[in-house]
Amino acid sequence: MKELDPNNIPKHVAIIMDGNGRWAKQQGKMRIFGHTNGVKAVRRSVSYARQIGVQSLTLYAFSSENWNRPQDEVSALMTLFMQALDSEVKKLHKNNIKLKILGDTSKFSEKLQAKIANAEKLTENNTALTLNIAANYGGCWDIVQAAQQLALDVKANLLAAEDISEELFQQKLVTKEQAPVDLLIRTSGEQRISNFLLWQIAYAELYFSDVLWPDFNEQEFNHAVWAYQQRERRFGAS
Ligand code: IPE
Ligand code: IPE
Ligand code: MG
Repeated sequence: MKELDPNNIPKHVAIIMDGNGRWAKQQGKMRIFGHTNGVKAVRRSVSYARQIGVQSLTLYAFSSENWNRPQDEVSALMTLFMQALDSEVKKLHKNNIKLKILGDTSKFSEKLQAKIANAEKLTENNTALTLNIAANYGGCWDIVQAAQQLALDVKANLLAAEDISEELFQQKLVTKEQAPVDLLIRTSGEQRISNFLLWQIAYAELYFSDVLWPDFNEQEFNHAVWAYQQRERRFGAS
C-alpha cells in the first residue's frame, strides 16, 4: 500500500463499477455471478473510503441505459439491490454512514422504493461518510430534472430567470450540498463516462484501472488515491 497524504484526501470520489460480466465470463459463469461478487468489492470500497476520510463516495450501480439489458439480468440486478439493502443498511448505520440513492427511483417496484426510503431515513443524520448509490441514474437526466425544478420556481414567481446561476443550478442536482467530484475512477479498462455524473465531474481527475470490478480492493483504491495525490490540479489557473 502507498502512503497517503492525509491533508490531500479527495473529498468526493465517484466510481464507475464496470467489468462484472467479463469477470464472470472469465470463469465460465453467468453474468449475475459477477454482479454478486461485485457487492463484496462495494463493501471493501465503502470501508476503505471511510477509513481514509473521504466525505462522499458515489457508486454507479445501474444506469438509465441499463434497462436495455436482457430482462433476466435486470431482474437479477434489482433482486441483488434489494438483498444488499436488507443485509447492509444496519451495518452502514452502525458505522455512521449516510446512504443516499441518486436517480429516478419512481421506476422501481413499490417494495424497493419503500426500502430505499426507510434506509435513507434511518441514516440521514450520519456523518462519517455519505454513500451515494446511483441507481437508474443518468447525468443527462440529473441536469434535466434540475432545469425542471428551476423552471417551476420561475413559473411560480419564486425566481427570476436572469437569477439562475451555476450555484443555484448546482443546488437542484441530486448531489446538492456535496462537494464536486475530485476523483473519478472507472474499472475494467473502458475509458468513457457512460452518462454518469456530468456537471459534477467538471474538474475531476480521471483514473482508469484495468482491474475488473469484482477484483477491486483496498490496494487498488489506495493506488487510485495515491495517483490522484501526484497530480497537479490547476482549475484553469497558470
Ligand atoms: C458493471 O458490470 C455492472 C453494471 C453495469 C450493473 P457490467 O455488467 O457492465 O460488466 P461488463 O462490462 O459486461 O463486463
Ligand atoms: C456503466 O457501465 C454503468 C454502470 C457501471 C452501472 P456499462 O457497462 O453499462 O457502460 P457501457 O455500456 O459499457 O458504456
Ligand atoms: Mg459494462
